[in-house]
Amino acid sequence: MEERLIAGQHQTEDVEIEKSLRPRTLTEYIGQEKLKENLGVFIEAARMRDEALDHILLYGPPGLGKTTMAGIVAGELGVNLKITSGPAIERAGDLAALLTNLQENDVLFIDEIHRLNRSVEEVLYPALEDFSLDIMIGKGPSARALRIDLPPFTLIGATTRAGQLSSPLRDRFGVISRLTYYTDDELGQIITRAARILNVSIDGEGASVIAGRSRGTPRIANRLLKRVRDIAQVRGSGHIDEALAGRALDMLEVDTCGLDDIDRKLLSVLLCSFAGGPAGLDTLAAMIGEEAVTVEDVYEPFLMQQGFLARTPKGRIATDKAARHLGMALPKR
Ligand code: ADE
Repeated sequence: MEERLIAGQHQTEDVEIEKSLRPRTLTEYIGQEKLKENLGVFIEAARMRDEALDHILLYGPPGLGKTTMAGIVAGELGVNLKITSGPAIERAGDLAALLTNLQENDVLFIDEIHRLNRSVEEVLYPALEDFSLDIMIGKGPSARALRIDLPPFTLIGATTRAGQLSSPLRDRFGVISRLTYYTDDELGQIITRAARILNVSIDGEGASVIAGRSRGTPRIANRLLKRVRDIAQVRGSGHIDEALAGRALDMLEVDTCGLDDIDRKLLSVLLCSFAGGPAGLDTLAAMIGEEAVTVEDVYEPFLMQQGFLARTPKGRIATDKAARHLGMALPKR
């Protein structure tokens, strides 16, 4: 009971810290250079015309800064940001309530927008296109259609799966942009910045060891920094250098390629139980005790990007690189 309470407190604290680490302006934001440059221009143009910015779709793996970017866009436009998510908008009425509460040029952020249900999506189309809301009042023969004008606004949609968006919805975004994994150098800068905010003593080598094991993902980099800080405080001098960072990450079971125990389990199941594969996603997920969508959205993109895993028409396969990394026999195919 006590354990759980402490773990819970730790988590809330982490959420608060994560928010404090978020950059608030495009200048503070490290990485995604092309997106930043483009958004900078679009924001300036919208401000000069005193218009709402065109709707923006951001897609890519989790933890790369989609929500952060929405906050920055709203901040730079000098408007309010309203945050919600696809599954939270259950009925058309929920969406209507959100939309009618927006002020002129506000930003509405919908996370996991691929999970909006169809009836909600249909109400969203005219809202996006003409800033109007078409709703039905009543049922049967006495039902009436009502049209409500909305203030102009910007929708920022975020998704890990752009392919699952219906094409009418996708077509209504004026800007569609993919966030990519960060380089080790960018992650090193993000870690150094976060360490400064958290008052943690770290040198360049320490930051670069953590960066190299953060899977190209700022959210993971910041999380690892906080855990390494704990270890430095309790087991070291409080300062994070190359040796301490390496030791701490070994303790956390994050290996030199940034793979954690679940990544390694996934690859070893493929290598041991399926002779390297192919194996179906559902089978694989069940064998490692994770949900198929989590495997697909969270674990696989990085493993594929790094060449540890491949998707084939017959299923997932572990590559020779994976076998070598785990010190296992090469798959015979
Ligand atoms: N913290 C998390 N993501 C960041 C980014 N892209 N730039 C600066 N700090 C960050």
